[in-house]
Amino acid sequence: MIKKLFLCALACITFATAAADEGMWLPNSIKGRIKAMRKMGFKLKADDIYSDDKASLKDAVVQFGGGCTGEFISPEGLLLTNHHCGYSSIQKLSSVEHDYLTDGFWAMSRAEELPVPGLTVTLLVKMEDVTSRIAAGESEAEIIKEAKKKHNADKANIEPIYYGNQKVLYVYRTFRDVRLVGAPPSSIGKFGGDTDNWVWPRHTGDFSIFRVYANADNEPAEYSEENMPYRPARHFKVSVKGVEEGDFTMIYGFPGNTQEYVTADAVEYVAEVSNPMKIALRTIRLDIISEAQSKDVATRIAYAAKHANIANAWKKWQGESLGLGKLGTIEKKKEYEKAFAAWAADKPQYANLLDSMHAAYDEVIPHYFARELFNETILGMEFFNYAYWFHTYDANGHKLTADKQAEARRTYLNDYRKEIDHAISRRMLSEYIARMPKENVPAPLATAIEKHGTPEAFVDHLFADTRLLEEYPLTREKYLADPMVQFAGWFADALAQNRKYAYRNLSNVPAIEKWYRTYMQALREWDEERAFYPDANFTLRVAYGTVTGYENADGEYHTHLTTLDGIIAKDNPEIYDYDIPQALRDIYKNKDYGRWAIELNGKTSVPVCFLASNHTTGGNSGSPVLNGKGELIGINFDRTWRSTMSDIEFDPAICRNISVDIRYVLFVMDRVGGAGYLLKEMGVE
Ligand code: ARG
Ligand code: ASP
Repeated sequence: MIKKLFLCALACITFATAAADEGMWLPNSIKGRIKAMRKMGFKLKADDIYSDDKASLKDAVVQFGGGCTGEFISPEGLLLTNHHCGYSSIQKLSSVEHDYLTDGFWAMSRAEELPVPGLTVTLLVKMEDVTSRIAAGESEAEIIKEAKKKHNADKANIEPIYYGNQKVLYVYRTFRDVRLVGAPPSSIGKFGGDTDNWVWPRHTGDFSIFRVYANADNEPAEYSEENMPYRPARHFKVSVKGVEEGDFTMIYGFPGNTQEYVTADAVEYVAEVSNPMKIALRTIRLDIISEAQSKDVATRIAYAAKHANIANAWKKWQGESLGLGKLGTIEKKKEYEKAFAAWAADKPQYANLLDSMHAAYDEVIPHYFARELFNETILGMEFFNYAYWFHTYDANGHKLTADKQAEARRTYLNDYRKEIDHAISRRMLSEYIARMPKENVPAPLATAIEKHGTPEAFVDHLFADTRLLEEYPLTREKYLADPMVQFAGWFADALAQNRKYAYRNLSNVPAIEKWYRTYMQALREWDEERAFYPDANFTLRVAYGTVTGYENADGEYHTHLTTLDGIIAKDNPEIYDYDIPQALRDIYKNKDYGRWAIELNGKTSVPVCFLASNHTTGGNSGSPVLNGKGELIGINFDRTWRSTMSDIEFDPAICRNISVDIRYVLFVMDRVGGAGYLLKEMGVE
């Protein structure tokens, strides 16, 4: 008996060590993980990561533009993030004469840095667990108000974690004067394009550089010529020593959305209902766009960003469903729930919990699905968004002046091709009708389709009889009578209904989420061995792991580092995604690598990207990748395709995040961009 127990304890320890790379931890309670981190090679202390009392690494990490992460790399506000995170800013600053996306951009002095209107950078001032304060009767609104005042901050929220079992206060300062300093040409920053996206081996120089400005008191301020570079309390020191397999790595950033504790019902919905529907519908849209792009260069450029946006999640969902299938997540969760139910059976507060959750899913899923299907079909029609703007803006009593109409046109019909939208809309409406339960289809739409014979014929009528796409400004009489505007108006009720289900995940819809509060409490009582960490919710987190390759298939090991030689092997002027700048070819030809040269497997080359086992997700793009001393060794930008199920189940054997090696960033700045002066500012001697 004793022997058996001992064995079990050993097995548990093995499991815990194997899963040590899993998790996205709250920085202010990282103390609980520090022992494990130190064992893996971390050299600093918990209060070097986060402290309320002194400058810590957290002061060097920001949320960049809402959906990404960035980091300070100099005492003068120099900020690093991904190229794909800076993409829309770079695009906004570009024109036909100055095409910074294609050619890259390097400010050769402070005066040449380009302000990006609307771009913000958000710095976490403080976080605090306020669960007990709220339980003691303090109001959330009061706590927020007081914190903003105390910390001279413009933004504070209280975020529920563990489905609301814990409440954490976050206090932020928002910087609004952010300027572009440098970006490589897309042929480096987006090298490999959609083909290599979510794929290893990877060779993308996915970085761009900005600078944050502040007023004379070093406080956030609106753009002004008088503003000075912001002096962060802390910035990352860059390490050019490089990475070895087995090295400790840590990611400090703002991961967006995971759901690690959901039941089999939720996983089944994702893997077998939602993902297949979304993948099928996006395949149709992507095929139509690609076909048009292949016939015409201007169309290829006009639809490049749209294609990339649609394809990014499309590819991720495929990897995710595949990964969940391979792991047998649904079956495993079912077994887990069976064991839980057996434990809960004699506990009145938990005995019926899984049944209640099951019933809640049955009730909510049809509505959640209807919303997702609507988003992928009706919102996939570009004209719909424009027509719906006319409908709602007018219905809300606004005057649709010529200026307003011009602005809406720019927003909704940007780089628009009527033929593409027409072809997509025919297919999307037909899929919508085929897949949507009849009772959700607006009655006037059903009547109109009956009148025209088929959804496709009805769409043909919309495109033949509308004036919306060609003419503007339109008089009120004309746009109200327009068939596209009328079509959009039919969906007002459906959209209102959808809004009730507009939560991050199915399991966050309140009718379901309320059960998770209890479920999480029960799991913590029952599954004592499990290392619980809160799901990602776009708040600051720490993930740690090691630099490491993985076994991709039987006998096929993917090593942790790629090099310039791999870029040259893919280089092909005929293939848009692989057409590198001539400068890079020349550097390769002359082996003109300078100090960036490394020796690898008997070859001289330049490091480009590396793999590690950190648990990351969307939002972690641009995150600093740190070594054991807290120095910057890379920028996180992606995961391998088969890792993407880590949003639901993390498998330490194959889940890998992809980073651009900081040495490649410096090499490109120095050798390709000619911006070596920035290296000095970063303290790279
Ligand atoms: N897969 C990366 C992340 O999910 C995005 C990379 C952007 N590049 C692209 N080719 N779409 O966001
Ligand atoms: N590429 C993602 C991002 O943009 C990161 C990921 O999903 O791994 O945040």
